[in-house]
Amino acid sequence: MSPGDLDTALCGLDFPTDANVLVGLSQADDAGVYKISDDLALIQTVDFFTPVVDDPYLFGQIAAANALSDVYAMGGVPKTTMNLVAFPAKKMDLSILRTVIQGGIDKVREAGAVLIGGHSVEDDEFKYGLSVTGFVHPKKIRTKQGLKEGDRLILTKPLGTGIINTAIKGHLASDDLIRTVADVMATLNRKAAEIMAPYPVHACTDITGFGLIGHLAEMIQGTGLGIRLYAENVPLLDGAKALAAMGMVPGGAYRNRDFRASMVDMDASVDLSIQDILYDPQTSGGLCIAVSPEDARRLQDDLIAGGVDPAAMIGEVAGHPSEKIQVV
Ligand code: CO
Ligand code: CO
Ligand code: CO
Repeated sequence: MSPGDLDTALCGLDFPTDANVLVGLSQADDAGVYKISDDLALIQTVDFFTPVVDDPYLFGQIAAANALSDVYAMGGVPKTTMNLVAFPAKKMDLSILRTVIQGGIDKVREAGAVLIGGHSVEDDEFKYGLSVTGFVHPKKIRTKQGLKEGDRLILTKPLGTGIINTAIKGHLASDDLIRTVADVMATLNRKAAEIMAPYPVHACTDITGFGLIGHLAEMIQGTGLGIRLYAENVPLLDGAKALAAMGMVPGGAYRNRDFRASMVDMDASVDLSIQDILYDPQTSGGLCIAVSPEDARRLQDDLIAGGVDPAAMIGEVAGHPSEKIQVV
């Protein structure tokens, strides 16, 4: 599905509303938030997909880290999870499913959450993921909205997972590279979320299917603000640039580019492979955190000291041009 297709499908539908819905379908965000009391709200999210690596245990870990990420992006703490499984039982051994789910369970445990249920169906194509429920204080919800002029943007994982996953499918990735990218995708955003928690964060999201630029576009849409993105500061997975130059670019990157073309001013000096990577759909990508320039340096230092590597200052929020991302 192309970016925007789902918006089109949902457009004009009449959703039930409730005063306790703090974040719902009326605004694009990482997860829904429902207020239980003055000091507790539930964050709810769900994500599942087809295998991105051959190793079933690693795939389980990656799918779980990816599903948990939206709770971290909203500033919350994951508490409960449920399995979502579509499995081709006639052509795949059940031991594979068992290993995938074990990978997921171990990642859920690492997140300090529990697995309390799930649902499975038979399907021609294997898919696995989780629904996740987290807790957050209603006044500490981090959304995509809230950027202020001058804010600095910090990104906590390198880009290029979509490109490297394409190379893996084409048998063009070395074992070392597969290992590296799998480790990055399986890394929880927990540490980054814990370190940003005490900061007055203005906006936060995690970088996933729409690519870095697609998610930045969501952050500025409707705000009148712009973003200046420093291409040289954007952290890349080793090998991503060379693979992009070889044409290992997933179709999703081009759909992301076409969808956001009107919001992007790409400087001609930006390497074409880097341009592709900026649109590359990410699986289980890092957090993109917006804070004031005064807080940015301290937060960056804290993230690095806490082992969050990279914690790259990739850009800043500008007053103009309005709702444009200038890549320089
Ligand atoms: Co998200
Ligand atoms: Co999501
Ligand atoms: Co059921």
